[in-house]
Amino acid sequence: MDKFIIYGGNRLKGQVTISGSKNAALPVLCSSILSEGVCTYTNVPDLDDIDTICRVLGHLGVTSQKPAPNTVVLDPTGITSHEAHYDLVKKMRASILVLGPLLARYGRAKVSLPGGCAIGVRPIDMHLKAFAKMGAEIDLSHGYVVASADRLKGTRIVFDNTTVGGTENVMMAASLADGTTVIEGAAKEPEVVDLAGVLNAMGARIEGAGESTVVIEGVKTLSGVRYEVIPDRIETGTFLVAAGITKGRLSIARGRADHVTAVIDKLMGMGLQISEGQSGTIEVNGDCDLRAVNVETVPHPGFPTDMQAQIMALACVADGVTSITENIFENRFMHVPELMRMGANLEEKGRTVIVRGIERFQGASVMATDLRASASLVLAALNAIGYTEIRRIYHLDRGYDALDKKLMALGADVSREKGGL
Ligand code: EPZ
Repeated sequence: MDKFIIYGGNRLKGQVTISGSKNAALPVLCSSILSEGVCTYTNVPDLDDIDTICRVLGHLGVTSQKPAPNTVVLDPTGITSHEAHYDLVKKMRASILVLGPLLARYGRAKVSLPGGCAIGVRPIDMHLKAFAKMGAEIDLSHGYVVASADRLKGTRIVFDNTTVGGTENVMMAASLADGTTVIEGAAKEPEVVDLAGVLNAMGARIEGAGESTVVIEGVKTLSGVRYEVIPDRIETGTFLVAAGITKGRLSIARGRADHVTAVIDKLMGMGLQISEGQSGTIEVNGDCDLRAVNVETVPHPGFPTDMQAQIMALACVADGVTSITENIFENRFMHVPELMRMGANLEEKGRTVIVRGIERFQGASVMATDLRASASLVLAALNAIGYTEIRRIYHLDRGYDALDKKLMALGADVSREKGGL
C-alpha cells in the first residue's frame, strides 16, 4: 500500500486548480441509469471512487468510456442486470445511489446493504422508508435490499433528519414516478443542486433544489445529456487550510467560493485573508497568527462535516483553545490519535474535541484511516518539523485527484512511495 513522505515547513505558494466534485460526480453518474440515451460528463475527477462507480454501473450493463481526461461517457441503453453486489457496495457506500434510478426505470433492484464504514453505521433507513412510501415493495434478505414497484408514485416525503444521499436517491426516483413528489427537509448541499441540474437537463421537472422543499413532477422518459460537474468544495476548503497551516499564499482556480462560505468565514475568523481574485480565483494569504475559533459541523450551508478533520489540523497550531463538535457522524475523530502522535494537544469528550494550540507539529509515522482523516494528516505533515510518513494513502486517493502532485507544484516536499504496510 502506498505511503506519503512529507518534509514539513515549506510555505505553499502559487496557483492550484480544483478538480471536479467527487460527491457531485457519484450521483450524477448514477443518474445515467434513468436515461434513454448516451450521457457525457465532463470535469469528472480522476479518483478511485469514480472507477468504482463505473464498475458498479458496468455490472448493470452500463458501458463506460473515458475518451479524454476528466470526461466519462456512459451508455445505459444495454442494461441487463439490476443488481449491485456486496463487494462493490461495501467498497463504496455511494453505490446505494443506483437503487432509486433502477427502481424508477426498471421497477426492480437488488442492492447490497452498504454496511457501516470507518466513520459510522451510516444506515439507509430513510432512503428505504421513502421508496416504500412511493409504493415500492422493500425486502431485506441476506444482506441485500430487494425492491420492486410497478411504477413509483409521486407523494410527500418528509426527512426528519438531513440526508444528502437520501435526498439524491429520492430525487432520481421521483423524476420518473407517476405524479408529483414533494421532499420536505431536503438536503441543501451543492451536490444535490448539481444532481437536479443534470436531471433537468435530461428533461426532468425539479424545482427548489438547494432549498428544504424540493418539488419533482414525474415525467415519462429522460434523455441522454452532456453535463459538466461542479468543482469539489471540500478540495477547495482543504487548500484554503493548506495555505493557513504553512503560512503560504495561494491562488485557487475553478473553486466556487459560494460553495464554501461557512469554511471561509471560519478561516477568516482564525486570521486568514481570503478574497476573490481578478479572474474569479480565490486568493488566500495564510501568513498570519492563527487564532482559535469554535467549530460545529451541521448540514449545508453550515460548516461541513467533510472539513472537520482538516480544520482540526489547523486549530492544533492556532493560539488558544478550540472546541470542535461533530454532529453528523458518530465516529469521525479517528484522525485524533494520529494527530496526537504528531504532538497535537487534543482531548476527546464525546462528540467534541478540545484543541489546545501548539507551536508546530512534529514529524512522525502515522496511519490514514479514512478519506478526510488522511487529508488532515497531510496538512499536519506540511506544517511539521521533520519528516512524516503517512501510510495507507489509498484512503486519500479515493477522494483527492493528484493531491501529491498539486502540493509539489506549490512547493511542498512530498513524495509517494509504493508498497509497505
Ligand atoms: C454524503 O454522505 C457524502 N458522501 C459524505 O461525504 C458527507 O459526509 C455526507 O453526505 C454528509 O454531508 C457522498 O456524497 C458520496 P447522509 P451520505 O445521508 O449521503 C445518517 C466524504 O468524505 N443517515 O447525509 O451517506 C447517517 O448515518 C463523504 O466525501 C441515517 O441515519 O450522508 C449520517 O449520520 C463522507 N439514515 C447522517 O444521517 C439514512 O437513511 C448524514 O448522512 C441516511 C443517513
